[in-house]
Amino acid sequence: MTDVSETKKPGDRKITRLADLTASQQADIRQIPAEKDFVNVPLAAERPNGIFTGRDRFDAEQTGVFHRFPVPVTLAAVLPEPGSVVAVEAYGLPLLVSRNRAGEIKVFINACQHKGSKLIEDCEVHEQSRITCPYHAWTYGIDGKLLGVARSDMFEGLDKSKRGLKQLPSVVWGGVVYVQLDGREPDCSNLSAEVAGDFEALGIPEAHVYGRKTFDLKANWKLVLEPFLEGYHVQRLHAASIGDLFVDAPSIVSTFGPNIRQVSGRIGYYPEMLDEDPDNNVHKLVTFAYTAFPNLVIVTSQYYISAMILMPIDVDRTIVHYFMLTPGPATTAKAEEVFKRSYELILNVFGNEDFRAAQITHEGLAAGVPETSTYCGLEVNIIHYYEAFEQLL
Ligand code: FES
Ligand SMILES: [Fe+2]
Repeated sequence: MTDVSETKKPGDRKITRLADLTASQQADIRQIPAEKDFVNVPLAAERPNGIFTGRDRFDAEQTGVFHRFPVPVTLAAVLPEPGSVVAVEAYGLPLLVSRNRAGEIKVFINACQHKGSKLIEDCEVHEQSRITCPYHAWTYGIDGKLLGVARSDMFEGLDKSKRGLKQLPSVVWGGVVYVQLDGREPDCSNLSAEVAGDFEALGIPEAHVYGRKTFDLKANWKLVLEPFLEGYHVQRLHAASIGDLFVDAPSIVSTFGPNIRQVSGRIGYYPEMLDEDPDNNVHKLVTFAYTAFPNLVIVTSQYYISAMILMPIDVDRTIVHYFMLTPGPATTAKAEEVFKRSYELILNVFGNEDFRAAQITHEGLAAGVPETSTYCGLEVNIIHYYEAFEQLL
């Protein structure tokens, strides 16, 4: 998949129309019935407590998935400019993600080849072509080469060409930077070309990153993921915030291996709306939610897109990197106000509602209750996802 962020810039796109989407996205949207015609199908499905609380299961996921296939670490949109670098704490590893002068993204371990000091300690994006270690000032290019050693006359026989930053194999897929943590050539067999095409149609590679926030949660990563795969909780957990904006609507669902695309109509949706004005912002009519293998969530909203990477750190600990993407930076005070209010709203909804639900659920499960979680017809996508995921363990 090509990294189109080299050619398109944030702000090139103002809104996304139906016609901007892929044929397959449009086909799914056209299958969404009117709200009044929705039919929900009941389901009987269970999962044992141990998939959330068991050490064996966690270890099997680490070996079978997170260290076997490429995993997302950040978005290419975080580094729109060639000659920039950002530090990312990913899956317990300190990483540096850089975009070199040619526009290519590379990933390194954020550790100096002299004695291991972290090179960048903050999480800001640095527009600079060199990285200098804070300890003894060894200097690297953003492509990882060791360029300069302070008092190099004091090192006998030091071969600078052997002391470049340690690189991890990476691939940019639909604007998402994936890394192969075990250092092997990335095995992209579970990434979906369709989903990457969808992300490009949604403008994710060249989006503007309006805000980023990291959450450190006391919950298994799958408990953090579950609310993004089901609509059952929305009117209930989110009753005080966004619950009124959604009905218990089944989504039109397409699966691409262990990747899931859900699309549903917004409140009051009827299919004729699609053709009333071809220049309509399609995000005002429908909401897309993706679970991209293994742990990336994308949710579209009227004026922005949310991206979340749910990184398992331990059985009961997950670090979430949240990104709010807009088509470009705000160009008017009114747009800035909309973005600012949206950012506050979404951080509240996800942070204080969905993530809180994950944490309080983990507490109950850790006490051994219930022995099995039970899932209904409004939660069927969770089961789709687990079935595909569990095949890899
Ligand atoms: S540890 Fe980086 S220069 Fe010494
Ligand atoms: Fe939610």
